[in-house]
Amino acid sequence: MNEKNIKFWLKRLGLGLVGILLITAINYYSTSSVKAQEVLRVGTEPAFPPFEMQAPDGKGFTGFDIDLFKAIGEEAGLEIQFQSMPFDGLIPALQSQNIDAAISGMTITAERVQTVDFARPYFQSGLAIAVRKESKNDIRGFDDLENKKVAVAIGTTGAQEAAKIPGVELSTFDNSALALQELSNGKVDAVVNDAPVTLYAIKVGNLNNIEVVGELLTEEYYGIAFPKGSPNVEIVNDALDELLKTDKYRAIYQKWFAGEPAKLPLVAPALQGEAAAFSIASMFPPLLNGALITIMLPPISIFFATSGGTLLATASISDFKPLGWLTRIYVDFFRGTPLLVQIFMIYFGLPSLLQGIGLDISFNRFSAAVTALSLNSAAYLAEIIRGGIQSIDQGQWEASQSMGMGWIQTMRHVIFPQAFRRMLPPLGNEFITMIKDTSLVAIIGFEELFRQGQLMVATTYRAFEIYAAVALIYLFLTFIASRIFSWLEKRLNPVRRASKKSSDRIASTQEQVAG
Ligand code: ARG
Repeated sequence: MNEKNIKFWLKRLGLGLVGILLITAINYYSTSSVKAQEVLRVGTEPAFPPFEMQAPDGKGFTGFDIDLFKAIGEEAGLEIQFQSMPFDGLIPALQSQNIDAAISGMTITAERVQTVDFARPYFQSGLAIAVRKESKNDIRGFDDLENKKVAVAIGTTGAQEAAKIPGVELSTFDNSALALQELSNGKVDAVVNDAPVTLYAIKVGNLNNIEVVGELLTEEYYGIAFPKGSPNVEIVNDALDELLKTDKYRAIYQKWFAGEPAKLPLVAPALQGEAAAFSIASMFPPLLNGALITIMLPPISIFFATSGGTLLATASISDFKPLGWLTRIYVDFFRGTPLLVQIFMIYFGLPSLLQGIGLDISFNRFSAAVTALSLNSAAYLAEIIRGGIQSIDQGQWEASQSMGMGWIQTMRHVIFPQAFRRMLPPLGNEFITMIKDTSLVAIIGFEELFRQGQLMVATTYRAFEIYAAVALIYLFLTFIASRIFSWLEKRLNPVRRASKKSSDRIASTQEQVAG
């Protein structure tokens, strides 16, 4: 690097620093002005009816928790602003003070009390087992779940409890609505979830093939959570006391549940348990397990995607027009819709569609993941392959044909080898994108690298360390992939290989001249 270069980069660095400072300042002033106006940012995971859910008109939220917090706000003179986020993101968001409180049917547990503060218990709940009606004679309680498939929601007490079942095969979903859907679709034998939520889902009727069996597994109390040391705990506690005294609590309760509310203790009884320990070293074995699954997905999917992409590309350049149109539709659809939506369509949607027409096909998670990644990637690969083939001069087709070569021969010996070299860089991009996209299949409970990280954060609340480790492992994987592709590119470049020596010589002469 010469002096000019250094100056250039120093300038860039300076500009970057100024930018960061500006953003921090804006952030600081905007959050402090929020505090001055007494707006409380309250996080909630709104797929937990009847406690929190999307309002029927799609604007805002509704449910027992939402009504209760609104009443608390009125009582305490606070303006409440609800923010939706994943359940396992609530405690990290409290820790980083991105929200001021969380209400989300969250059980007060010994582990959580280590990282956040809770107001006094506001609801008595417990875990229950749900099964499909046809299996209610086989599964009657916790002991019958041994070696069974059980779905749970990530980071919940249900997930913790279910993990204790010997030989259990757990599937972890982002919320309990998805877990219950999985049970209703017949892919697992049971769901361990908060009883009021499961009962509400059954009653409201969109899951009418499900039933709750046995007794409640636990007695739990929900609490509103705050960052450690937050002054709002007091304020909310006072408001809650007031609501409980004046029957306003009872009115909200009876809007959502039948009967009388249970008497609430001042402190949750669960607080005598012990919390899990965390160490940096303990985070690697599960992450590496996840990484093993992550590295299996791209090669298999790329194999199917390349085969599909080649067919599509050939079809798209064929003289038979309708084939071209069909491939266009395919490419536009899979390139123009989010992969995440495609994964949902394939895993949750397709089986019920097929069952609707009498075909009893259901995907396991691995094949659903491979199918989604392959179908999606085939669309991109089709374009890369088509582009590569069309980039070869038309004259070469004519020349080959005049030498008496047929279409297949020309393609195989003349066009494809050259086109392939041009395709390599975008193919490399596609492969790296695919490695990163595998993290999206976490959504169907697939325990690859990212989901393993999420699962760990859900019990240890060490979001930064764990996600940083996850990022490093992805970086390592993509780095290896990109090295392999550059090596391939060099290897397959005959021109460069042949002329390397002479070009080296030219370069060194040039340097001498310049120096
Ligand atoms: N009570 C359970 C827990 O604290 C589940 C809460 C889930 N809440 C939600 N909004 N998804 O672990």
